[in-house]
Amino acid sequence: MTDRLAGKVALISGAAGGMGAAHAEHFVAHGAKVILGDIDLDGARALAARLGESALAVALNVTEPATWREAIRLGAERFGPVNVLVNNAGVSGSATSTTEISDEEWHRTIDIDLNGTFHGIRSVLPHMLDHDGGSIVNISSAAGMAAAPGVNIAYVAAKFAVRGMSKQVAIEYAQKGIRVNSVHPGAVRTPLTQALVEQLGPEFMEGFYASVPMHRIAEMKEVSDAVIFLASDESSFITGTELVVDGGLLAL
Ligand SMILES: NC(=O)c1ccc[n+]([C@@H]2O[C@H](COP(=O)([O-])OP(=O)(O)OC[C@H]3O[C@@H](n4cnc5c(N)ncnc54)[C@H](O)[C@@H]3O)[C@@H](O)[C@H]2O)c1
Repeated sequence: MTDRLAGKVALISGAAGGMGAAHAEHFVAHGAKVILGDIDLDGARALAARLGESALAVALNVTEPATWREAIRLGAERFGPVNVLVNNAGVSGSATSTTEISDEEWHRTIDIDLNGTFHGIRSVLPHMLDHDGGSIVNISSAAGMAAAPGVNIAYVAAKFAVRGMSKQVAIEYAQKGIRVNSVHPGAVRTPLTQALVEQLGPEFMEGFYASVPMHRIAEMKEVSDAVIFLASDESSFITGTELVVDGGLLAL
């Protein structure tokens, strides 16, 4: 328990499970109040109950601007002005090739990963401008820095775009007290990827680990630590940049 995030009120999208839930848990441990936004409201409520008075669950579909506005309103009503947004909700979709991806999968991925992030940014900006500014942390991916095997064109397009949007918004609002950065995790051990790791088997995973200089995948806390840094005042002169959390993968 520290006070690194004391005074922070953070809206985290996709906070019911996976990394969003880990971010929420670590944010609270460092003194923040958290608003857990997810389409899985039951999951968000269960986590909020576990985290106690510092957490509030709200219904959020990142593709629907009205739900963003309501999440911000409810969060601010409970905890005061929202001064951190973590745009975490995202889907990776299937590892389909470009000739085979369906229109439906293309649109769904772009809608959640790219448009959802845009709606989050656009919804929170007026609120932050009306109060004391804030920090926006957009979760991209190593696949937002370089092409990657095992993911599809829509995911890579969306994650590259999230990185570009972060930089654009960062320069537009740099003099208005709002910082915007992106985080780029490589493979991370989440409940979903853990199941995949077990399904693929140790031999396949050994091959994968060999491609990562640190010879492993990330634990969720290692990504949370990067997000906490960018959300906190420790990164007060950092905006428009990307923080890669990939065990050295992109350094190769
Ligand atoms: N897991 C990895 O290895 C990895 C690597 C790089 C980047 N990422 C990125 O990190 C983020 C989190 O990934 P994860 O693996 O924890 O995902 P996850 O699938 O475990 O959890 C995603 C959460 O988002 C929620 N969600 C989905 N669609 C939503 C919507 N329309 N509105 C609101 N909430 C919605 C889900 O209900 C779920 O709680 C994503 O943006 C992902 O692209 C993940």
